[in-house]
Amino acid sequence: MKKITLPVASRLTSPNPLTLVCTTKPDGTANLASVSWWTYLSFNPDMIAFAMAKTSYTGERVRETRKAVLAMPAEGLEEAVAGCGSTTGRDTDKAGKFGVELASVDGTDIKIPALTRVAIVCTLKEYVETGDHYLYICTVDEALGDPTREALFAWNGYSQIRTAK
Ligand SMILES: Cc1cc2nc3c(=O)[nH]c(=O)nc-3n(C[C@H](O)[C@H](O)[C@H](O)COP(=O)(O)O)c2cc1C
Repeated sequence: MKKITLPVASRLTSPNPLTLVCTTKPDGTANLASVSWWTYLSFNPDMIAFAMAKTSYTGERVRETRKAVLAMPAEGLEEAVAGCGSTTGRDTDKAGKFGVELASVDGTDIKIPALTRVAIVCTLKEYVETGDHYLYICTVDEALGDPTREALFAWNGYSQIRTAK
């Protein structure tokens, strides 16, 4: 083995998990941001966490509203995931721009993509500064799933979005 950087390590551990962190903007519309750095934290109580760059609009909205839905995108959303990961909700209606059909979920006003395999509705408990990111630690209000939909993963870092098959 030879010494590598952490970004190279993150490419070698592909495929990486993938979610769209859904939040609401002040006008009530949804913002969607692609996030690989999320994890389960606890099953008792149910808790998850995700890390977002300090500059992200999503982070700003989560700190303001304390609410988010992690929507694990299903097959069919490959291009939208790439788009939602390269534009900011500060100046873009991502669902409109990338043609994402939105749907309602129980327990929240935040809309999520209709093509979702798992949705985790959560409330921000606290956030911690971690270098150039904040780590958002959340309690889970509700989890919903549709196993008939195929999950997407991020391959070779963020460069490819596809199923694990
Ligand atoms: C596949 C993929 C995974 C990503 N994972 C993360 C991540 O884990 N954390 C992060 O801060 N940004 C991640 N990004 C980049 C954000 O999605 C990107 O900065 C986005 O513009 C943020 O949008 P916002 O400003 O509307 O929040 C990822 C992008 C892609 C394409």
